[in-house]
Amino acid sequence: MRTVVVFSGAGLSAESGIPTFRDSNGLWENHKVEDVAHPSGWAKDKNLVLKFYEQRYNAVKKAVPNPAHEAIAKLQEKFNVINLTQNIDDLLERAGCNDVRHFHGSINKRKCEWHQSCSMLQGDTRYICDVSETHEVPIKLGDLCPKCGGQMRPDVVWFDEPVAFEFESIKDLVKEVKYNKGVFICVGTSAQVHPAAALIPLFVQVPEKYIIDPNARRIGNYTMIQGKAGEKLPELVEKLTK
Ligand code: OAD
Ligand code: ZN
Repeated sequence: MRTVVVFSGAGLSAESGIPTFRDSNGLWENHKVEDVAHPSGWAKDKNLVLKFYEQRYNAVKKAVPNPAHEAIAKLQEKFNVINLTQNIDDLLERAGCNDVRHFHGSINKRKCEWHQSCSMLQGDTRYICDVSETHEVPIKLGDLCPKCGGQMRPDVVWFDEPVAFEFESIKDLVKEVKYNKGVFICVGTSAQVHPAAALIPLFVQVPEKYIIDPNARRIGNYTMIQGKAGEKLPELVEKLTK
């Protein structure tokens, strides 16, 4: 089976009613990004951060997959489909996608606030814990890690935190797609934030590749498809599966 890699950003879920970041003037639900999606915001006011993610958790829970998510799931009938997504929602999974890799973590998971420190403080057993689990209720102040007593936080990547991904594995993926004559589709990302900014040029080596976005900027020799994901992705999938 040929491989299709779909690299997605906030635009993929826009038509499900989840707003993108760049469309809201650097504010996120009226909060400054550094107050709610940065370690410094967490240090300053954990309660505010938890409330913010509770709102986002509830918004995701109410949202449903749109025709773009469904089209990607349909591709699985003919291709080996790998999703690399910057989105923390689970709409791809709910549409039926089997292989979804979240660069920026997942709103449905939580982890210990010291989790990040584990790798930085190797040998320090105080912080050796790896608590990442699916939870059904938003996190409250006082929900503590059973191993070290750290406050639980959403398992999402904040600004200035490392992405949950090995760049080397992406290079292997590029090779695989290139050699089995696969397809690369980039959808709904402004490609301004790492790793998106670095990842798209990596796939330039793949012969068949597309960018779908209403504000698509030309990158290398990508085929540009100007428009909404919910419209353009089903059309592309139709063409690829014919
Ligand atoms: P952005 O908000 O930066 O970009 C959204 C992109 O989606 C833009 O290029 C829009 O033109 C496009 N778009 C809007 N509506 C669309 C639609 N209906 N169909 C297709 N595309 C549409 O979002 P990301 O690129 O995902 O990071 O942002 C990357 C990261 O920056 C996010 O994961 C988040 C953010 O701050 C963290 O949380 C660490
Ligand atoms: Zn812990």
